[in-house]
Amino acid sequence: MIRVLFVCLGNICRSPMAQYIFQDMVTKKGIENQFYIDSAATSYEENGNPMHYGARRKLEQMNIKCGNHTSRRIDRKDYKEFDYIIGMEESNIRNIRRIVGEDKEKKIHRLLDFSKNPRDIADPWYTGNFDKTYEDIVEGLNNFLERMQKNNELM
Ligand code: 4NP
Repeated sequence: MIRVLFVCLGNICRSPMAQYIFQDMVTKKGIENQFYIDSAATSYEENGNPMHYGARRKLEQMNIKCGNHTSRRIDRKDYKEFDYIIGMEESNIRNIRRIVGEDKEKKIHRLLDFSKNPRDIADPWYTGNFDKTYEDIVEGLNNFLERMQKNNELM
């Protein structure tokens, strides 16, 4: 079982989008039983709150099923429990490190560092552009899956 935790600032836009898009991708490939997928925040700003309406609407448009995830902050035990801890932007990476401590097992990654064009995923909470966020997340997730395939991590 490969345990993947997606992380952003509020855990109501980007990281739950990544969680449900990735769940949809692996389900369509028939490899969903190889994964446990979750998401978390680096802040308590939205603690207990459901996904942002704009994020949910974009996924509905794309026919991607959403669960009833509510925002929770990442904690130190997540570092032990997950194999991949994937942030959306550089500031997420800094905040994750601050919370979980040293990344001895090299589990912490920025999503678009898996792509050929490494960059941050802009925060749609500020930009309002959920289409661009969706496209960037899909690009990162496809590259992440390809990398796992190349490294023979998938059965
Ligand atoms: P997210 O967006 O990190 O993609 O979930 C945000 C949601 C809420 C806040 C910031 C970013 N906030 O400060 O409440």
